[in-house]
Amino acid sequence: MQDKPLIANVAGFSTQEFVTLVQLAQDAKADIVELNLSCPNVWQKDKQEEITCYHPTLVKSVLSAIAQIKPHIKMSVKISPLPPDTLRAVAKEIIESGIVQFVTATNSYPNAAMTSGVEANNKGALLAGLSGRALKPISLGVVQQLKTLLPSRIHIIAAGGISTATDVKDYLQAGAKVVQIASALMEGDVGVFEDILASQC
Ligand SMILES: Cc1cc2nc3c(=O)[nH]c(=O)nc-3n(C[C@H](O)[C@H](O)[C@H](O)COP(=O)(O)O)c2cc1C
Repeated sequence: MQDKPLIANVAGFSTQEFVTLVQLAQDAKADIVELNLSCPNVWQKDKQEEITCYHPTLVKSVLSAIAQIKPHIKMSVKISPLPPDTLRAVAKEIIESGIVQFVTATNSYPNAAMTSGVEANNKGALLAGLSGRALKPISLGVVQQLKTLLPSRIHIIAAGGISTATDVKDYLQAGAKVVQIASALMEGDVGVFEDILASQC
């Protein structure tokens, strides 16, 4: 791991928890802390917790609370596939916070209905985050928009349906600096990284 940056991905249930988690990542000497402001899977009984990044005011309050501790760790904000107006407003808060060096786009698309492969609950199909191949055009569009919204000092880390070298190339062309892979790794194995690096596109 010597030449690889260590990224700590954290999700808090409150602004104060995010502050504590940043402090812990910093103390643990992670290279980057990635704030998961986009987790679609937190439910309290029947009520879904708010997904922070869909609310620019919540993004602002989390980032300004973190700014107050004057963090020296590099920071990424991980966002959901956001619609254009919300994306613009969230990008503005990220820029104005002055503490963010990366935006990770995107997390899964929240509340897709699963009609096969799982047992439906008594209210119908289960709701879950949509990831993988179907997500790629949406995440790629978000990356493309971010490239025009963010200043060059804030880099884009892309995720969403990457499983081939062509996918990587598409995201790099859209403006990403780095890419992440989740679903393809879960569906296959760590060989996915070698396959991508070895393949031509
Ligand atoms: C099973 C599963 C668990 C995930 N858990 C997290 C998580 O804990 N934190 C996070 O920020 N993103 C999480 N994600 C989102 C992925 O990191 C990624 O942003 C998203 O799935 C899109 O990439 P992909 O299409 O390569 O899966 C998870 C995704 C999957 C499929």
